[in-house]
Amino acid sequence: MKSIKIKVPATVANLVCGFDILGMAINEPYDEMEVRLLETPDIIVRHTDGFNLPEEASKNVAGIVLMKMQEHLHLKNGFEVIIHKHIKPGSGLGSSAASAAGAAFAANILIGNILSREETIHFAMFGEELASGVRHADNIAPCIYGGITLVKSSDPIDIISLNTPGLFIAAVHPQVEVKTSDARQILKKNIQLKDAITQWGNIAGLIAGIEKNDLFLIGRSLNDVIVEPVRSILIPEFDTIKRKSLEMGALGGGISGSGPSVFMLTEKKKTAGDIAMMMKSVYDQININSMVYVSDINSTGIIIEEQNN
Ligand code: HSE
Repeated sequence: MKSIKIKVPATVANLVCGFDILGMAINEPYDEMEVRLLETPDIIVRHTDGFNLPEEASKNVAGIVLMKMQEHLHLKNGFEVIIHKHIKPGSGLGSSAASAAGAAFAANILIGNILSREETIHFAMFGEELASGVRHADNIAPCIYGGITLVKSSDPIDIISLNTPGLFIAAVHPQVEVKTSDARQILKKNIQLKDAITQWGNIAGLIAGIEKNDLFLIGRSLNDVIVEPVRSILIPEFDTIKRKSLEMGALGGGISGSGPSVFMLTEKKKTAGDIAMMMKSVYDQININSMVYVSDINSTGIIIEEQNN
């Protein structure tokens, strides 16, 4: 029986100023998924992780991706997917994108690698649509491509892979609930031209900094005048964590995806470790449980751990 086991990275979407267009894969945390091609047309989803996610295929982000692939590609086979999730759902670290991208990536290999990366992203976006109500690829693209990606357009899909600077990430996930759909709902639908100009400058500066490996330029471009001021009110102690991180030498950072995780980029691993400890202690002091991660940037995207033909 054809089967595949894959390792799927977490992702940090938006990268502060690039709402819905920039994203970065990180090495910690990651999910593992096993996908099997079935002789029958069933789509079977199982979770081993205890997060209580729905296993009914049409309500599961991996399941819906497999259903759409089966329908649109007229597949006679079905799939069984077993998800060992370590990226906490609702963390803002691309948990739903990992399931969706992992399902599309693995299923494509099992059916003979017939899809391009753009087509794989097209199917994975059905999972994001189920999870957040919107088809966006800023988590899915870096999950599949690795490194840092720019979603120049999601319809038609046009993804640009950027340089991977040798930076480190400190991230904290405070255990408070922020639903992506709610965090999108509260955003202003119209923005001032002067804010748009500031944001364009920052996005362009960030991409130039990433391409030139100019850390000072990356740091001073990690500034969001549109989304962060609205969303940060949903995250306890956001301002404290950001201020202290910058004082401790972070290049910059902000909300990871739609939150509640907060991430910081650093030049040195030790700085990321120290910032992660500070982040945890800020939440300990106000009795909010938190998980912290120290990682480097993942440059490979999803990788195959085992494959049986
Ligand atoms: N770009 C998305 C957002 C990522 O910020 O809403 C979360 O899925």
